[in-house]
Amino acid sequence: MSEERKVYVSDLMPGMYVSRLDRPWLESPFPFQGFVLENWQQVAEVQNACRYVYVQAGAAPPTAGAQTRGPGGAVARPAARNGGPGVIRKVQPVSRPERNNASSRAVPWEARLARQLGRAPQHPPPVTASLEQEVRAARPLIRETRGLVQQQMQDARNGRSLDTPAARESVEHITESILRNPDALVWLSGLKKRDEYTYLHSLSVCILSVSLGRHLGLPRETLLELGFGAFLHDIGKMHIPDSVLNKPAQLTSQEMEIMRKHPEFGVEIVDGSERIPVSSRNVIFSHHERLDGSGYTQGVAGGQIHPLTHIVSVCDTYDAIISQRPYKKASSPVNATAALYRARGRFFEPELVDQFIRCIGIYPVGSLVELSTSEVGVVVATNEERLRPKVLVVLDEEHHRLDEPYEVDLSRTLQTRTGQRLDIERSLETGAYGLQPADLLEHVEQA
Ligand SMILES: [Fe+2]
Repeated sequence: MSEERKVYVSDLMPGMYVSRLDRPWLESPFPFQGFVLENWQQVAEVQNACRYVYVQAGAAPPTAGAQTRGPGGAVARPAARNGGPGVIRKVQPVSRPERNNASSRAVPWEARLARQLGRAPQHPPPVTASLEQEVRAARPLIRETRGLVQQQMQDARNGRSLDTPAARESVEHITESILRNPDALVWLSGLKKRDEYTYLHSLSVCILSVSLGRHLGLPRETLLELGFGAFLHDIGKMHIPDSVLNKPAQLTSQEMEIMRKHPEFGVEIVDGSERIPVSSRNVIFSHHERLDGSGYTQGVAGGQIHPLTHIVSVCDTYDAIISQRPYKKASSPVNATAALYRARGRFFEPELVDQFIRCIGIYPVGSLVELSTSEVGVVVATNEERLRPKVLVVLDEEHHRLDEPYEVDLSRTLQTRTGQRLDIERSLETGAYGLQPADLLEHVEQA
């Protein structure tokens, strides 16, 4: 007889074999007595029905006949809840998450995303507002949301419950803006100074995650869950001592141990507040897990990581690389995408990294570039030809500020007036040559 252990539903994961519930099977919505949780949709269904369950470890599940209450095959379907059940199939139970889960890696990431979400992604919606229009709408939104993020973090630090309805409302507004035109908020997400990182990193990761989710064609309600999880993903850092959180040097292994507790602290904080979606909670708990199982908090791997969590992990890493920190300089977007690319297949799903780069671009809107003429500008639009975006030139060849910045579309203008080839020479980090993208936005708003 294999070992059975009690697990609270908040700790359930795909791959676990549920052998008993906290109530008689007949009082549950599930027609089968014992089943493998194949995806997060099914985990959510059990979470809706029970407080705790028993999972079986280290043994094959009972035969199909033993699983069912009545005659039937080896395929069971839990009662429909929340918009559609998933299929529970007879597969080997996983008592402990496997590292480098080869079987789940074999399935294309997007197909797994669709399967785990219980619905197929659609095409991204069309852009319905120009960058100029959306920047005007997004500016006050960012201002208000910055205030809210600070308030949330203070509440968490002082042990007060979070104002989750306010956070949800902000995430809704962010999502609506990104659905209209993602470029405005992606540009604005780069506007944080060194001392604002802790506060504004969560907001940036929310914006990047929802933009990537939009690019992947996720439905609106999924984008809201994704954005909500991303918005609160680091809330647990408010329980980390300042001496560790803002240490202007590399952390010692002991300090690192403390820092690695922030996902657990985050879940404690949100559990003390109004109930949040299961997938958003998972983002908070698991955003430092990695594809190869080398992450924390549980060291789970591959298909054991919720696809929404994986989206946030990629965006979290990207934003950390392009941001200035007390112990490191900001890197350019090109360096950040190169770092993600190097980590694809090891830390991150390769297809997801590819999609992220397609979504954000090699030279993202709002990033600074130096041209082959030594002029410096900000990217104002991406093109099909990703290495040749539209650039607003703001510094001349000697890096003096131009009185009248001008736009050049590199996909159309291949040469300078004197016949030299016109290219992007390099991608620059935020703050290079004293340029802050916030100042440059004024030119876009006046356009
Ligand atoms: Fe984190």
